[in-house]
Amino acid sequence: MALQKINSRILISAITVAFTFFSCANKEVLPSALQGEIADHAMIVSARDEASKIGLEIIRSGGNAFDAMMATEMALAVSYPFAGNLGGGGFMVYRMADGSTGSIDYREKAPAAASRDMYLDENGVVIPGLSTQGAMASGVPGTIAGIFEAQAKFGKLTVAQIFKPVIDLAENGFVVSERQALRLTQLRETFIEVNGPKTFFSKEVKGGDTLKIPVLAATLKRIALNGRDEFYKGETAKAIAAHLKSKGGIITEADLANYEAVWRDPIEFSYKDLKIISMAPPSSGGVTIAQIFGMIQPYLIGQYTFHSAEHIQLLVEAERRAYADRNFYLGDPDFVSIPVAELMAVDYLKFRMEDFSFEKATKSADIAAGEIAFAESMETTHYSILDADGNAVSVTTTLNGAYGSKLYIDELGFFMNNEMDDFSSKAGVPNMFGLIGVEANSITAGKRMLSSMTPTIVEKDGELWMVVGTPGGSTIITSVVQTILNVYEFDMGMQEAVDAPRFHHQWLPDLVSFEPDSFDSLLIANLKSKGYQILENNNPIIGKVDAILVLPSGKLEGGADPRGDDKAVGY
Ligand code: DON
Repeated sequence: MALQKINSRILISAITVAFTFFSCANKEVLPSALQGEIADHAMIVSARDEASKIGLEIIRSGGNAFDAMMATEMALAVSYPFAGNLGGGGFMVYRMADGSTGSIDYREKAPAAASRDMYLDENGVVIPGLSTQGAMASGVPGTIAGIFEAQAKFGKLTVAQIFKPVIDLAENGFVVSERQALRLTQLRETFIEVNGPKTFFSKEVKGGDTLKIPVLAATLKRIALNGRDEFYKGETAKAIAAHLKSKGGIITEADLANYEAVWRDPIEFSYKDLKIISMAPPSSGGVTIAQIFGMIQPYLIGQYTFHSAEHIQLLVEAERRAYADRNFYLGDPDFVSIPVAELMAVDYLKFRMEDFSFEKATKSADIAAGEIAFAESMETTHYSILDADGNAVSVTTTLNGAYGSKLYIDELGFFMNNEMDDFSSKAGVPNMFGLIGVEANSITAGKRMLSSMTPTIVEKDGELWMVVGTPGGSTIITSVVQTILNVYEFDMGMQEAVDAPRFHHQWLPDLVSFEPDSFDSLLIANLKSKGYQILENNNPIIGKVDAILVLPSGKLEGGADPRGDDKAVGY
């Protein structure tokens, strides 16, 4: 098989060791479950209290999950500018109450003037910072197109009804959390560097302050009145293009006018009696979790103790192999052909694990340990929605880095993304998440950059069971897998599964990272003795999962990640 040949070349030196199942310890009895928000009818979990509440209010007043998506996304743009956005993009996966599924891709696109080597200097070396900070870092934003497309197709309320509470939020203000104040303070100098001393976020902000953003309220009012074209063809579009030009950017009015969100068939696959529905390329999320679940399925991971060496090794080895495929094969399906079916085929995944042994780590490649640090990664944001009719929506949306490119359009009240960094600026050179790309993800005008965002919905025995997703850059994929496994294989509730410490491996760098102070030193020593390289003392948090579980009673349990200010609300 062609894939098998390529993979054995690019990936893993063939260490063939016999399978050794030497541990079948009984499942650990976990401490009594910490329960999340419980509701009977509807639930929203997002990064901010205000956004969850505004979304739920929309449902209470007769809206559905798609109306609530529009409200929640915009409320996050106001109250969580760290990742909530008008100047970014995202993906939404849905499952209607009748079981039909779909997804929308509102990922940013490279502008028409973008080209393969745009981030390289005359010697072919990547210019530091050009794809991450300032006007050149932005792709053409997709968020407004995405939420309007989804709401127009499935929503029940008017755009004016949905935008009203969000405009009120921008006008009346939201209370800044301690976490927010800390980040805004840390980045204040950078905001000034990129936008000048008079920029909105040059002000000093403390936890507990109320922040009003009247300029953003005005932008939202125009969009509510004139629709999505206000952002892509109207006064707002003109202001975006003019501002970016003045800052040395290349996004034009024509780029904005040409942007369209795209409906795509989601990736769907089975794991035991679960059906998992997730995002297709240009997100790598669906294919990569399908590969990981497919690779571990024969090993009955639930027989091992939670966070035992066996549990961790199985996942790490599957992740190593799946991320290698991700980086080689995946990109924008409108530009490159992707062998999705082959990558997810049972025989192929079995072959990929043939050289796995519990006795010894597989080597990813020759890369010096610790050469690439993982960036602190929670800059994207995820929200999960289940409405009173049983429609589920799973959305991950982002500016990429914290506050995106840091370029703030003061005239409009929002940050622009730095999503261009998700392309491979140069084959083999890692991006800000340490991810290495090749041809499939090279820059081309009009192309979407590869993503790791993994908004996911899970059915059990044909019924809706979980809505899940997270920020975390390259760690998104592994965090989503662990959350599903925590509930399904390790019998946790939703909140407990979200709270549980996480670990991560992404092929290269060949390092296993662990959330700090949460994993036993004997376990770490055991893994080291098997040849695993561990990234120690460098991992703040891995993922920030917001999820909903349908309990056997039919009630809903929300899991809001305590790693942030996240909040589940339901009724
Ligand atoms: O699409 C992606 O994979 C990245 N732009 C996501 C960035 C992210 O999750 C940042 N926060 N951790």
